[in-house]
Amino acid sequence: MDFQTLALPESGVSGIAADALIVVLPATGDLPSFGGVVDAALADALKGGDLERKAGKSVYLPRVAGVKAGRVVLAVSRDASAKAFKSAVASALAAVKSGPAKHVAVVGGDASAAHAEALAIAVGDAVYHYSKTKPSAAPAPALAKVSYAVPKSAAAAAKTGLGVGAAIVSGMDLARECANLPANYATPTYLGEQALAMVKTHGLEVEVLDRKACEKLGMGSFLSVARGSEEPPKFIVMQYKGGAKKDAPVVLVGKGITFDTGGISLKPGPEMDEMKFDMCGAASVLGTLRSVAELKLKVNLVGLIPTCDNMPSGKATKPGDVVTSMSGQTIEILNTDAEGRLILCDALTYAERFKPAAVVDIATLTGAIVIALGHHNSGLFSPDDALAADLLAASAAGLDPAWRMPLDDEYDDLLKSNFADMANIGGRAGGSITAAKFLQRYTSKFPWAHIDIAGTAHRSGAAKGATGRPVPLLTHFVMSRAK
Ligand code: BES
Ligand code: MN
Ligand code: ZN
Repeated sequence: MDFQTLALPESGVSGIAADALIVVLPATGDLPSFGGVVDAALADALKGGDLERKAGKSVYLPRVAGVKAGRVVLAVSRDASAKAFKSAVASALAAVKSGPAKHVAVVGGDASAAHAEALAIAVGDAVYHYSKTKPSAAPAPALAKVSYAVPKSAAAAAKTGLGVGAAIVSGMDLARECANLPANYATPTYLGEQALAMVKTHGLEVEVLDRKACEKLGMGSFLSVARGSEEPPKFIVMQYKGGAKKDAPVVLVGKGITFDTGGISLKPGPEMDEMKFDMCGAASVLGTLRSVAELKLKVNLVGLIPTCDNMPSGKATKPGDVVTSMSGQTIEILNTDAEGRLILCDALTYAERFKPAAVVDIATLTGAIVIALGHHNSGLFSPDDALAADLLAASAAGLDPAWRMPLDDEYDDLLKSNFADMANIGGRAGGSITAAKFLQRYTSKFPWAHIDIAGTAHRSGAAKGATGRPVPLLTHFVMSRAK
């Protein structure tokens, strides 16, 4: 997708050469002027009842006399926020993307960097198109170029915002594509290849450790999850070195369960297919590394991805088995379906060698976070108030909602085991919190946060598919740590 700014003509927007023109207007207050012809069409649509000045409403007008663009979409924004602008653009794009328009111009919003970024991400969401394993898929949308028409004085800021948005879209697309790909394609080996491909395309340093190398490192917890599968596990280490040598890196750790059957603690059948999305944390790490590399941020960033299938078999880990993690702490596996924490804990211990400024793990970790927060907010856990505040600020800037959850020590007692240093489950109550408490036991050496994305990384039902979240949040967080 080609994103550009366009100088808003003084004569109004009717002369803009594009295949479609999206005009975003506010739901309340005075109507801004877009120039005679468009103002008249807008007044007419409002008067005729074709358009209501209510958030989310839009109307599609083909061939408006006197307007150069072949189609005009008028879309109403709830307020002046970037969030409202983004959803107005999204509703307008729904009408345009199935048509022949290749070049869409957008006018409205405040032309700030934030609005420009929101525009780019709305476009990325609208045109993302999965076809890899679906030969009968409809052709990809024709849309190839988007111009944001802004006053000259705002052009520089808008251009910056479009650039950030384009990089985030690029990372989200990688995350969506990896996550949507079925588990018989998106194996641990495939994820390793995706990472290795970024050595050439994005100048990353990448190492893919195999089972033997992980054994040598003592990753007994990670490997206990991989035991039941014929598919070889991988531990992916990616480094982007945009900062000074002495700058402590940010480390992102992504859960890469390429399929979660539950293991011997087998999941029920319905919707089990969605457990191919259990590598969305890993996908968001791959995506964020791509975004950050494309933005050429002056920062050091490490991505760690422990990845394997969680399968039942004669070799699989059994409930009650005790394993030794890389940290030396032992774990009684009371439920083999609580496997995410078992692969993440060894990755967190591995992260110590980078002497990180901060470590953030991202995981489709618990069904309990979906009960707590639904599908809107990701769950953010951190004992470090400053780090939590930075991540919440990044969440707000990226329009990628997250809500802070508690980590009181009292929850930790639920992980007691008679046979090991800890159990891998803490019971049904507060399930997403005890999962986070488990991880916290591996994070004494660095500032740490955990993001549970089980409710936000993918959708079910008719819109089944990966969302690309939380790449916007993570990219903004890394931007906030860059020089
Ligand atoms: N991958 C699941 C969590 C999940 C659930 C992700 C729904 C996306 C949608 C995770 O490995 C899991 O199975 N968690 C268990 C933990 C329990 C056994 C303590 C859960 O949430 O039920
Ligand atoms: Mn599980
Ligand atoms: Zn899982």
